Amino acid sequence: MTETLETQSVRNYDIEELKRLDMAHHWHPFTDTKALHKEGGARVITRAEGCYLYDGDGHKLLDGMAGLWCVNVGYGRQELAETAYRQMLELPYYNTFFKTATPPAIELSAKVASLLGDNFHHIFYSNSGSEANDTVLRMVRHYWNLKGQPNKKTIISRWNAYHGSTVAGASLGGMKPMHKQADLPIPGITHVMQPHWFQEAEQGETPEDFGKRAAHAIEQRILELGPENVAAFIGEPVQGAGGVVIPPSTYWPEVQKICQKYDLLLIADEVICGFGRTGSWFGHQTLGIKPDLIPMAKGMSSGYLPISAVAVSDKVSETLFEKGGEFYHGYTYSGHPAACAVALRNIEIMEREHLVEKVHNETGPYLAEALATLRDHPLVGETRTLGLLGAVEICKNKETRERFADLGKVGTMCRDHIMERNAISRACGDTMVVSPPLIIEKGQIDDLVAALRGALDDTMADVEKLGL
Ligand SMILES: Cc1ncc(COP(=O)(O)O)c(C=O)c1O
Repeated sequence: MTETLETQSVRNYDIEELKRLDMAHHWHPFTDTKALHKEGGARVITRAEGCYLYDGDGHKLLDGMAGLWCVNVGYGRQELAETAYRQMLELPYYNTFFKTATPPAIELSAKVASLLGDNFHHIFYSNSGSEANDTVLRMVRHYWNLKGQPNKKTIISRWNAYHGSTVAGASLGGMKPMHKQADLPIPGITHVMQPHWFQEAEQGETPEDFGKRAAHAIEQRILELGPENVAAFIGEPVQGAGGVVIPPSTYWPEVQKICQKYDLLLIADEVICGFGRTGSWFGHQTLGIKPDLIPMAKGMSSGYLPISAVAVSDKVSETLFEKGGEFYHGYTYSGHPAACAVALRNIEIMEREHLVEKVHNETGPYLAEALATLRDHPLVGETRTLGLLGAVEICKNKETRERFADLGKVGTMCRDHIMERNAISRACGDTMVVSPPLIIEKGQIDDLVAALRGALDDTMADVEKLGL
């Protein structure tokens, strides 16, 4: 099934030499380096176009993950490259610290605020989703200090959430292996159960009842800690890296009520869900959540340049501006002019090509139907989607939702098998997830789902052979 193409890279790479240098000098994130080297090193991606990646060994791969959930407008957009080029010639860099601003940072702020509706008028920039979440933590603590409630410090998050890799980001996240390696979380962050019906509901518990139970775990924790000590709740509208965990319909309305009742700030981490992914501009709009702070990144520039931001509601910004004095926080590249110019043009492309509407009306529903066809597969316990976020649950027993022992082993096999079929889907534990570019066409969704079915068949053969 391996498709081999002539690659047309800008440069004529010596791939074997690059692989050797990669192993000799390049330390990859989230990678077991010893295992990678044992397997012969990394696949070198040399170019990309639309929804396809090309590697140095001549493969053309359908990118079912939009890079890392970010390349929303697809690869190879000349106008984004030209925008960066022109901005770099005109003004490659200036900071926004000392009573200065640049046109792209101003224009992007106004544009993002306009996409967020009436409650949000101020945007604070950083470079990655992790830094956006660090910024949120600083803002939340500053806010309650200014409100004369300095004990309101603890932020409640969820197990299996992903909020980044910096110290605050990883602490806010609920990934236990990350905590273990760095003695995290830092004080003032606590975790409760995630709204993952497939994995965590009791036998016979309906999604609606489970959603309420998961929300009440937040209330219980607030009462244990004392509401006067709890500052905020943070959640991704849909947990991405946790396995595209789409909460039951009862969850977010209940969370919203609980935050109001106990005077908590509500943080919607839109790093994945923002910029059209769920069929609205932002995931909180799709799910009817009313947050106070919104970290965002990824789809903001479709990954063409690094940029992230926190949108701050008027409720929070009024206090911080009126009473806060100087906010001792920021990054050299906050509001980087080239990154802002590219993000602005990226949003223009999404508007011009009606990509958000396309996800909502056309490709989102189509992906839902296409993934649902996999439910007859013996390994598949559930499929679920929201917009162009999708998940396929691999399990040992469809009826009882029993998992395979050693969670992640079978998922990883399936991930490797789909790659052999020239398509990319990621394994989060034993959940196969997809998050393709928002430009994906129906025929390409069919190809992706066909590759998933083939990979599931290959995985089934492994499972039988190994007696798992
Ligand atoms: C929801 C969420 N928040 C934060 C982050 C961290 O973003 P970054 O990797 O840009 O630091 C991610 C990254 O995947 C994410 O999915």
